[in-house]
Amino acid sequence: MSLVEKIQKDFLPKHLAIIMDGNGRWAKQKGKLRVFGHENGTKSVRRIVETSAELGIKNLTLYAFSTENWNRPRLEVEALMRLLVSSLRKELKILLKNNIKLQAIGSLDTLPKKAKKELFEVIEKTKDNTHMTLTLALSYGSREELKNAVKEICEKVKNNIISLESIDESIINQHLYTQNLPDVDLLIRTSGEHRISNFLLWQIAYAELYFTDVLWPDFSKEDLYEALINYQNRERRFGKTSEQIN
Ligand code: FPP
Repeated sequence: MSLVEKIQKDFLPKHLAIIMDGNGRWAKQKGKLRVFGHENGTKSVRRIVETSAELGIKNLTLYAFSTENWNRPRLEVEALMRLLVSSLRKELKILLKNNIKLQAIGSLDTLPKKAKKELFEVIEKTKDNTHMTLTLALSYGSREELKNAVKEICEKVKNNIISLESIDESIINQHLYTQNLPDVDLLIRTSGEHRISNFLLWQIAYAELYFTDVLWPDFSKEDLYEALINYQNRERRFGKTSEQIN
């Protein structure tokens, strides 16, 4: 049986999130500049987006740029933003062909004008697509997202739009950037780091975590298949006992 045949199509994660890490080290191993790693990272993005859509994963969220990433050397930040613009231009066709809707989460206002313009154009052109939702986390930080949600909820309480007593988990969900997405079922991080790095802290409460040593530019279809098979072989208990689940 091939790897892909081992994947149960009716038991896919409803929401797969990926921390794409290791571009810099991949380039360094080859004696190249970090930007070369990011360029090759975009090829992995395309491969994993297409494969996820092919498999029937409904929601894929990629951590493309964190709020902390602004602190990288200026030239690297500029290169990443340029790559974002060129990838959006190139990938529009693929998104349309595969019926994929693009959305973005994060402090999008802080992106350079050109990147914002390109991004919103692709979001607009793909907004009616239904096969998969691809969410790019750009200038994203989970604590900032939660802080904004708290502020918005407090504002509504102050203005008597909602009562203090009515605040529950679903109200908090409705004030996150990810309000239209289900909770994350599987979170993958590449490159051997075992950290969450301020990514979707609320949304991964019950997610299965999968860490691999593979560096992001090398992350192949088969690596994704392996992660999914591993996920499907885990028992998700959501706080219950094995007996209650079975
Ligand atoms: C982590 O590698 C990767 C990033 C900070 C950016 C991810 C970006 C891409 C995959 C390409 C651009 C994305 C889009 C959507 C166009 P790192 O630089 O932290 O690697 P290191 O840990 O080895 O230094």
